Amino acid sequence: MSLLLERIRKSYREPGGNRIPVLGIQRFAMNQGEQVALIGASGGGKTTLLNIISGILTPDSGRVVVDGSDIAAKQEVVRDRFRAAKIGIVFQTFNLLPAFSALENVLLGMSFSGRGVDRAFAKQLLERVGLGHRLHHSPQKLSVGEQQRVAVARSLANKPVLLLADEPTANVDLANQQLILDLIRDTCRDHNVTLLMVTHSSDVAGTFARVENLKDFNRPELCLQEQSV
Ligand SMILES: Nc1ncnc2c1ncn2[C@@H]1O[C@H](COP(=O)(O)OP(=O)(O)OP(=O)(O)O)[C@@H](O)[C@H]1O
Ligand SMILES: [Mg+2]
Repeated sequence: MSLLLERIRKSYREPGGNRIPVLGIQRFAMNQGEQVALIGASGGGKTTLLNIISGILTPDSGRVVVDGSDIAAKQEVVRDRFRAAKIGIVFQTFNLLPAFSALENVLLGMSFSGRGVDRAFAKQLLERVGLGHRLHHSPQKLSVGEQQRVAVARSLANKPVLLLADEPTANVDLANQQLILDLIRDTCRDHNVTLLMVTHSSDVAGTFARVENLKDFNRPELCLQEQSV
């Protein structure tokens, strides 16, 4: 098993003190190398779920087991190190570092992994997303779709065991949508990387053998029931 979520509860606290229940998941599991498309309504909690899996957020309760480690139980610094070494992320909002070029953003993704920097591989990833001619552009000099493609290249730079992609094709044309999908899915297949991809596109979801709608396994109300006990 590559990913296992058990009895996950997550709510956000409003400034007034009220809780906003977002996730109540009894169990969700993926095998190593499996590819799943995650769909669901806007505001339903998909990004929150990815942030919990990557250890950026911690759940109120529950287990998040990635590659054999319960990351939710670990301290932030340990989660950060674990994420840098094992998890690739394409953020919905890209989160590229503005002071660095496209190539440097990918190289930084590698250096944080602790596995050394492979400049040729970084260039190769950018070339594969059609950005071989934009290596030295900073993010603000790239179009939104180009920034998204840098984010995709960076997510693969640390050769992750788990790739979390939050609508990685949301801002690109059809040709680039196909290119990004092929890069992500082929890389994951070739290296047995587990892939969880959020998408609002039924065309994209339709290419996956396993499609999960968050509302089918998420019961946010469980969150409040348990916490009020
Ligand atoms: N830091 C926060 N504080 C309070 N509420 C939050 C916070 N982050 C998210 N929320 C709320 O949690 C809910 C889930 O948000 P999330 O971003 O996970 O949804 P999503 O499924 O990714 O939506 P989209 O498809 O629009 O990206 C939303 O109602 C949102 O308003
Ligand atoms: Mg989202």
